[in-house]
Amino acid sequence: MASIIEIEGLTKSYASGFKALNGVDLTIEEGEIFALLGPNGAGKTTMISIICGIARASSGSVKVAGHDIVRDYRGARAAIGLVPQELSTDQFERVIDTVTFSRGLFGKPRNPAHVEKILRDLSLWDKRNAKILELSGGMKRRVMIAKALSHEPRVLFLDEPTAGVDVELRRDMWKLIGQLRETGVTIILTTHYIEEAEEMADRVGVINRGELMLVEDKTALMKKLGKKTLTVVLAERLDAVPAELAEWQVTLKGDGQEIEYIFDTQAERTGVSSLLRRLGDLGIGYKDLNTAQSSLEDIFVALVHREKAA
Ligand SMILES: Nc1ncnc2c1ncn2[C@@H]1O[C@H](COP(=O)(O)OP(=O)(O)OP(=O)(O)O)[C@@H](O)[C@H]1O
Ligand SMILES: [Mg+2]
Repeated sequence: MASIIEIEGLTKSYASGFKALNGVDLTIEEGEIFALLGPNGAGKTTMISIICGIARASSGSVKVAGHDIVRDYRGARAAIGLVPQELSTDQFERVIDTVTFSRGLFGKPRNPAHVEKILRDLSLWDKRNAKILELSGGMKRRVMIAKALSHEPRVLFLDEPTAGVDVELRRDMWKLIGQLRETGVTIILTTHYIEEAEEMADRVGVINRGELMLVEDKTALMKKLGKKTLTVVLAERLDAVPAELAEWQVTLKGDGQEIEYIFDTQAERTGVSSLLRRLGDLGIGYKDLNTAQSSLEDIFVALVHREKAA
């Protein structure tokens, strides 16, 4: 796959001196869905704003479809569609006019057939003559997407596409984003919802305090997700892990009161029942058992937490 966005050493310090981005390197492949995951204030919107030419980088470089975002601003901008985090559009304008106007802003010739296709794809055709203020929140968001797609961009940025959207609408949005990808558009979305990244993304990037801490294939992450932790609460505490349990590589936790075993849920043999049998054979009694899924959320929280502790 060819790359469509190349970010190198991107740093942003705001006038206040606050460093919102710190040496970000990232390559986005054409046609992928990339989810940028991070807590409030991590630098997601800052990063998107720089790529889209709304904010200026302090140092580093960004190329979009081969165009440097500073030296060849127009070329870069023409390749980008942006649905900003804060929705703003003229409330009194009609849906079809606002989308047509957006296309014009990019100096593209009028193309009613293309505008119609976008509105149909986004289930907005019936509402084409409605004023924006007459639409529901979910419809407004789709109008913003229609506007962002009006000039046929190769990359679409969605900054928190489902923030404040109910579960059902969120699912609709996911479906829509999936369909958009079918048209060949590269999609970069930011989200707080781990579930959203799991559902949508080909690759996931975790950003925290202006640093990109992890970029990984979603399937690789899902493999990690496949891991579960079994905690065996012992009837009596142990001083050390008995040698007979070596093959399970268990660890002693809770001051010797618990045994922890990490297993792969996808594996043919998880080792859970054999471990419990062995405990029985050794006469090690237990009071309770519980298992917990390690999720993208755990990975995320652990990463963010480690950073905070540092
Ligand atoms: N114009 C600005 N001037 C000064 N600081 C700013 C400005 N814009 C953003 N910041 C700061 O930069 C940091 C990153 O903000 P940014 O909006 O990029 O975060 P985010 O990851 O998009 O967060 P959220 O999930 O809340 O949207 C924050 O600490 C924010 O206060
Ligand atoms: Mg933001």
